[in-house]
Amino acid sequence: MTTTYTLEHRLPADYFTEALRSDAFKGLTAQPKTLPPTWFYDARGSELFEQITELPEYYPTRAEHAILTAHAAEIAAATGARTLVELGSGSSQKTRLLLDALRAGGTLRGYVPVDVSESALREAAAALNLAYPELEVRALVADLHQHLGLADAPGPRLLAFLGSTIGNLLPADRAVFYARVAAELAPGDALLLGTDLVKDPATLVAAYDDSAGVTAEFNKNVLSVLNHGLDADFDPEDFQHVALWDPELERIEMRLRATHPLSVKVRELDLVVPFEQGEELRTETSAKFRAEGVRSELEQAGLTLKHWWTDPAGRFALSLAFPAE
Ligand code: AVJ
Repeated sequence: MTTTYTLEHRLPADYFTEALRSDAFKGLTAQPKTLPPTWFYDARGSELFEQITELPEYYPTRAEHAILTAHAAEIAAATGARTLVELGSGSSQKTRLLLDALRAGGTLRGYVPVDVSESALREAAAALNLAYPELEVRALVADLHQHLGLADAPGPRLLAFLGSTIGNLLPADRAVFYARVAAELAPGDALLLGTDLVKDPATLVAAYDDSAGVTAEFNKNVLSVLNHGLDADFDPEDFQHVALWDPELERIEMRLRATHPLSVKVRELDLVVPFEQGEELRTETSAKFRAEGVRSELEQAGLTLKHWWTDPAGRFALSLAFPAE
């Protein structure tokens, strides 16, 4: 049997170098220093993230999986989706629960995984082709800030954005994102959104500072991405992994703290970046949510929250929202 899928490229050829250059220049010359979390995910970083999802402390992946297991049939019935579009699909692990339910409901025809990683998309698409030979898989290599993957997808469409990746966006960027979703969804389409919830700080911090040190390695991996991509000379040993809970902004921050005064050469940018002892580079913000907050952010964009499901422990939520009539 031959298996087929299509793969479309919507990233400019110089996307990785140009975006890395500008993000690194902006972030490393800012006060305080920051980097966007997108740069964690080279091949090594993606592998480390997969390991994170299996750590005893990192509950979000398992909690979301439990919600999908319990409610996939309801999601299928409520949406009757013909096309599943998934943003940041990565390895498409949790997708199968949705695909199975939509297939059982008899409506599913196509799957559009959207990710910046071509290798992850190819692997996922090939595996899904084997498991779902009748499914039309159209993989899209794209930046979700530019393409939502909805164009040309037959409706009703279910747009899934899982894993609480939305938490990486700051509130203003979330508003922009939801507005774009609302503008592109047609009547009858739906948004399925995964959000990690506010809970006791000890549980949250442990999820980002595991005892095996995998998250620390994941965090420091961004320095190798800069070393390789921009010919920089960061020594990961010079930095300490920091995870902290900001109770006002209700978000986890990951940082890398210089253990002594040092300076880093970023040759591709002709830049020397000084660090004082204890100075921190913020590498990720991961917002945690409450039901009222999710509902009102969606509402402001013109999306109506129709279903809210959590795992039994109330750690994580899945929302199903529709364009307001
Ligand atoms: C993939 C963005 C949802 O914020 O929990 C895991 C990434 N960072 N451990 C998260 C992550 C550190 C993850 N997201």
